[in-house]
Amino acid sequence: MSSGNEQQLPTKAELAEMDRDQLVALGGQLDGVELAEYPDPWPVKGTRAEKRAERAIALWFTLAGFSGLAFLIVMIWWPWQYQPPGESTAHFWYSLYTPMLGVTLGVSILAFAFGIVLYTKKFIPHEVAVQQRDDNMGAGSAQVHRETFAAHLADAGNRSTFARRSAIKRSAGFGVGMLGLGAAVLPLVGFIKNPHANDASEDSLYHTGWKPEHPGEKVFIRRNTGDPHEVVLVRPEDLEAGAMETVFPFKESERHDEEALIEAFIRVDNPVMLIRLRPEDAAKVVKREGQESFNYGDFYAYSKICTHVGCPASLYEQRTQRVLCPCHQSQFDLLQYAKPIFGPATRALPQLPITVDPETGHLIAKHDFIEPIGPAFWERKS
Ligand code: FES
Repeated sequence: MSSGNEQQLPTKAELAEMDRDQLVALGGQLDGVELAEYPDPWPVKGTRAEKRAERAIALWFTLAGFSGLAFLIVMIWWPWQYQPPGESTAHFWYSLYTPMLGVTLGVSILAFAFGIVLYTKKFIPHEVAVQQRDDNMGAGSAQVHRETFAAHLADAGNRSTFARRSAIKRSAGFGVGMLGLGAAVLPLVGFIKNPHANDASEDSLYHTGWKPEHPGEKVFIRRNTGDPHEVVLVRPEDLEAGAMETVFPFKESERHDEEALIEAFIRVDNPVMLIRLRPEDAAKVVKREGQESFNYGDFYAYSKICTHVGCPASLYEQRTQRVLCPCHQSQFDLLQYAKPIFGPATRALPQLPITVDPETGHLIAKHDFIEPIGPAFWERKS
């Protein structure tokens, strides 16, 4: 503001007396703004075109609200637990859970954005203003500028006619409300679906498919031949020294259960690396405290799920006896109970205790892992 303008500033008392139109005019004058055009978007009130525009905007906001509501319903009530493919439609509905979350939230945000853009185009006056550039060199705004600015904002709000368009106001409130509610409920969903409700369940984060169905049941080590119906078990002589194979659990109780046979391959916490160390490497192994009996001779079995963020860590380097995770290059030393020696992972790969079934000669798991596999979670203790 030039010093010339400063001299013409109204006093505090004069400012307090001014109505909003006068403040708007004063603000423009002080800022050197000249309004070349300031047309009312709807000079004739209540036309059909105006009502049509209002309805279209309300429709977008309503759509945003209903999509937000659908997002909430999907998040809480849609069947989200894994269902194996089969004859029933359960797998189909389960597989739609994530897409439905994306579609409902996406449509809600998009519809709300369309409503706002349309409102701006149809009801906000499109003025043409010319302003002289001014720079107060970093000094704060004087009270008169603050008040005239606030008056400008209020005037813009008034001219947008938002306050008297109840259909748009209500639908926008509905849209914002549903979107806001979705954002608020999101962090609470973890409390509604408690993953630790039953820690003894096979589906709990503390158990894997290596857990026997009933006490005393043997869990065999199974090959993946590419055919989920074919059950091929592993004997120690099937693996050469220095070899690694990815294996899966098999229980006799599941032999004729097609879904269970398939699920054993696709359940994410099931894959295990079965490694037969060369005798010279096996002689150097440092075992983890409390897990000294988890190996069977030169055979060691470790979870394939990286303890960083859960990628399959399956690049086995026989020369250095390391397992590499391709995602972020963590390396695990097989000569030291698969503890991480490079990269972002901080915990050793969990070891599966194995032995040979004296009746059949096949390799079996002695029991489930004794710690959760994969990445950390809040309640994890190891
Ligand atoms: S997931 Fe393995 S290093 Fe990140």
